Amino acid sequence: MHILILGGDGYLGWPTAMYFSRQGHQVTVVDNYLRRNACTELDVGMLYTVPSLQQRARLWHEKTGREIKVVIGDLSDPEVMRSLFDGRVTYDRAVDPSFTGIPETVIHYAEQPSAPYSLLNHKAANLTVSNNLLVTNNLMFALKDFARDTHVVHIGTMGEYGTPNIDIEEGWLEVEHKGRKDTFLFPRQASSLYHTTKIMDTDLMWFAVRTWGLRITDLMQGPVYGLETNETEGDERLYPIFNYDEIFGTIVNRFITQAVVGYPLTVYGRGGQTRGYLNINDTLQCVDKSVETPAKSGELRIFNQIMETFSVMELAEMTRRVGAKLGYDVTIEHLENPRKEAEEHYYNPTYQGLTGIGVEPHYLTDEVMEGMFRVVDRYSDNIRKEVIFRGVKWGA
Ligand SMILES: NC(=O)c1ccc[n+]([C@@H]2O[C@H](COP(=O)([O-])OP(=O)(O)OC[C@H]3O[C@@H](n4cnc5c(N)ncnc54)[C@H](O)[C@@H]3O)[C@@H](O)[C@H]2O)c1
Repeated sequence: MHILILGGDGYLGWPTAMYFSRQGHQVTVVDNYLRRNACTELDVGMLYTVPSLQQRARLWHEKTGREIKVVIGDLSDPEVMRSLFDGRVTYDRAVDPSFTGIPETVIHYAEQPSAPYSLLNHKAANLTVSNNLLVTNNLMFALKDFARDTHVVHIGTMGEYGTPNIDIEEGWLEVEHKGRKDTFLFPRQASSLYHTTKIMDTDLMWFAVRTWGLRITDLMQGPVYGLETNETEGDERLYPIFNYDEIFGTIVNRFITQAVVGYPLTVYGRGGQTRGYLNINDTLQCVDKSVETPAKSGELRIFNQIMETFSVMELAEMTRRVGAKLGYDVTIEHLENPRKEAEEHYYNPTYQGLTGIGVEPHYLTDEVMEGMFRVVDRYSDNIRKEVIFRGVKWGA
């Protein structure tokens, strides 16, 4: 299969590229280094230096003999997107002369993914809105014009649903109103501008599915943790980008880094905020199973991509417990919450769809967290305490 990964340099994109390449698929990755450039601009360093996408593809080739094709380009430019489908980007036919180049699957990760970034200021907000919506819309039109049978796997976010006072279904809700019934997208109410763009993505994709018969799987993912996957095989040059700052770091990755350098864990408010989480290896599994069993033509299939739920305080307590076992003195600090969010709320999402198509969950056990502590500890000299927290305020 030819698999095109949009956003292939990112935290999830590069591990996904190696995963599918190792299975023998033809993999093309596209990225414009938006994430890396934003980190440089904001001066929020990563835990370790990550080679460029081209260097990583070369390393991968040296280790495995497999090719990952790299395209550097801005997918919010429609011509860059269209060139991937209309024959302008030439794909290597050496492996299989019948290879047409048209990807059978597109995995769409190419977005600005940070909620605090989207609320930094009007410039960052505009970048988030225009980048995320243009990339998705450009993809929809490229598929309509050149590749209607290609299956898209898009990563949405559980944050699209917010924290409603009713159970969260997988994407859709049957509504009975004045004696009549219909099925609609589950009501969405995001708490950040970034999450709002993901709601709009879903709307753009639902329009394209209804109108042009496209086939799309939208995975409502929770925050991901971890950095080692089967393909890295301990080779740190193949590790994904790993941020530990408030803007781009995800919570488990941040807490472990804070614990390693003796920075009090930054719990916002009371810490009752409950979300669904998953291991980076399960992102790969979920995407893989979605690719293996694609959505049908004219179907927008939605799965909730989480494996278990935790409150922020539960994660902080776990980090403290595991850290203590390893000899770290971990403290917890309740900071004034910079976000606009409920600190105690009902949360009961459904998430059986992905296990139903064969995903076998990895859970966040003490052992898994210990493994992450060990890796982060190797880079403790690189950790800059001053970039850990800056308090981007939602309501300011
Ligand atoms: N990491 C998580 O915990 C998490 C949770 C829920 C949803 N998601 C979603 O999953 C996807 C991947 O997340 P991630 O953590 O890997 O983020 P990331 O920022 O590491 O990866 C996204 C990649 O897309 C690239 N990109 C963005 N705009 C682009 C453009 N216009 N042209 C070309 N490349 C572009 C970026 O440079 C980056 O490398 C995102 O859509 C994000 O919203 C992530």
